[in-house]
Amino acid sequence: MLEAVKVSENVYWVGVNDRKLELFENLWPLPYGVAYNSYIIDDEKVTLIDTVEEGQLNQYMKEIKEIIGDNRGIDYLIVNHMEPDHSGLIEALVKEFPNIKLVGNKKTIEMMESFFGITNNTYEVKEGDVIDLGKHRLKFYTTPMVHWPESMVAYEETEKMLFSSDAFGSFGTLDGGIFDDEVELDFFEGEMRRYYSNIVGKYGGAVQRAFTKLKDLDIKRICPSHGPIWRSYPEKVLELYDKWSKYEGEEGVVIVYGTMYGNTAKIAESIGRAITQKGIKNVKIYDASKTHSSFIISDIWKYKGLIIGSSTYDATLFPPVESLISKLQNKGIKNKIVGIFGTYGWSGGSLKKLKEFVNSIDCQLAYKPLDIKHSPNESAINECIKLAEDLVNRLRK
Ligand code: FEO
Repeated sequence: MLEAVKVSENVYWVGVNDRKLELFENLWPLPYGVAYNSYIIDDEKVTLIDTVEEGQLNQYMKEIKEIIGDNRGIDYLIVNHMEPDHSGLIEALVKEFPNIKLVGNKKTIEMMESFFGITNNTYEVKEGDVIDLGKHRLKFYTTPMVHWPESMVAYEETEKMLFSSDAFGSFGTLDGGIFDDEVELDFFEGEMRRYYSNIVGKYGGAVQRAFTKLKDLDIKRICPSHGPIWRSYPEKVLELYDKWSKYEGEEGVVIVYGTMYGNTAKIAESIGRAITQKGIKNVKIYDASKTHSSFIISDIWKYKGLIIGSSTYDATLFPPVESLISKLQNKGIKNKIVGIFGTYGWSGGSLKKLKEFVNSIDCQLAYKPLDIKHSPNESAINECIKLAEDLVNRLRK
């Protein structure tokens, strides 16, 4: 049975795990589930920070009552973010605690009215406003587009805790471990990057603006709305977010291809081998028909090099590749070194679309676009090796 967990003397995690949901935002697979985190500050003014997804009412209310008992109420609900995975139980809380004050910025309050018709007992905070809870003080910073326009974070000044909403959150349930020093960090780094790149990735500029705003805060703990609480290694997640929001990739290459009969796959394998022979160990090859794009996008965010190959289908791109590059364009992918190759049987088409893709993003082209008919012959493989070598040289510059 999940219970409330002490984060510090008077601050508790009252989150829930969701292992049933298949797709986050009805888009992104959740093979390892997801946790929705909420927090209680048990002070003179009892304060709840964000709620959880609406299907989790019973478990959530039980955890809250574990802390406050049956005879106390909640004074404030801080609404850092209105996406339904966090705002889903606002109406239920208002029903249970009719005097609760709903704290948000101007945009949050507008959204509460348009989502739920709530107009009573709202309390508007502006940038830098502070609410005194007794021993604790919450200071508010707006963080627009991290990841909705109304998003904000709350910094608790006494214990130096940042309630960071979606920022620094990850997919994956909290399977017993709630804190960063109780969990497998490599797993959560991967699921945090998958969350970041797919959910927040388009808004790297907004993340950088939020960093500028928060850079002078002394942060001892980061309490996000998903994934573990960062109490031992908060600097690690700050560093990762800084890097990802600047689109800075590590040395490594993602090769992704779309193939019907395996000829385009053969080319990808040859390029992968050639890159490895030049000494690059981080090479990931994906079949776009097989691996969900959220995992491919996550690795594209991780590494500096990217190679995309597509067979021609109906005189254009193979559909799973078309879908992937459309997502990458939409997310504003940049600062990568990109190689492209198209394949075809009778008339071409895929390479033209790949060239348009490369021209539409702010990335460097490696070697030159390659167009290969049917199965790759020796001369085509030699060209692939040149592409691999040029990409590695650029990676190392
Ligand atoms: Fe976890 Fe933007 O919601």
